[in-house]
Amino acid sequence: MMQVVALVNRKGGVGKTTLAVSLASALSRQAKVLVLDADPQASVLQWADQCNGFAFDVQSFDLAQERIPSSGYDYVIIDFPPGFTDEEFDRHLAQLTQILVPVNASPLDLWATVSFASLLDASAKEQGMLVRSFLVFNQIERDNRFASSAIGAARGLGIRVAKTIVGKRAVYRNAALEGKAIHQMGGRAKQAIEDVDELINEVFGHVNA
Ligand SMILES: Nc1ncnc2c1ncn2[C@@H]1O[C@H](COP(=O)(O)OP(=O)(O)O)[C@@H](O)[C@H]1O
Ligand SMILES: [Mg+2]
Repeated sequence: MMQVVALVNRKGGVGKTTLAVSLASALSRQAKVLVLDADPQASVLQWADQCNGFAFDVQSFDLAQERIPSSGYDYVIIDFPPGFTDEEFDRHLAQLTQILVPVNASPLDLWATVSFASLLDASAKEQGMLVRSFLVFNQIERDNRFASSAIGAARGLGIRVAKTIVGKRAVYRNAALEGKAIHQMGGRAKQAIEDVDELINEVFGHVNA
């Protein structure tokens, strides 16, 4: 069955685009993958433009007008814009199989995101959807003391928090600068690739190696 994964958070800068591209790149080693760039800022398209070829397809996507393709790919990954409306989200909810909500371990980010993620979960349950949503902690530094308490607190709120913690690593920024995905960055990306594979394993229940 085709998996349709939305990277969603109304906060900017939390890693939606970075994780969309990294997940797509990892999955495309074995599967046919499409990234729908739903952000009017077209970050994925710009990233793809300055690169000599991602191993996955990228298309711009109008949340208000278009439909998610229903075949032709193993995975469709949607990079959401910060400013989407509830209507725009609800139009596509029935097709989503996973919702990933990246969040950084700063108190302000977390407060905003936790209430948002609970709403998402509630709205999916209300509609009887089987979609699985995960809060994904991203850009976490090993010595960030707030991070571990934040992760613990989020787990206590009844929201599914991914066990995979995505570390803060310079290679993500450098990859974007060079117009590459982390899988085209050689040995510098080893740990980042491990994080992303672990996330894939957790979210899709299979090992992607
Ligand atoms: N795990 C990470 N480690 C280091 N930098 C990251 C990581 N995730 C994202 N970034 C950087 O943070 C910035 C915002 O990420 P981005 O993916 O554009 O967020 P969003 O799409 O949610 O606005 C970018 O400069 C990106 O390179
Ligand atoms: Mg983005």
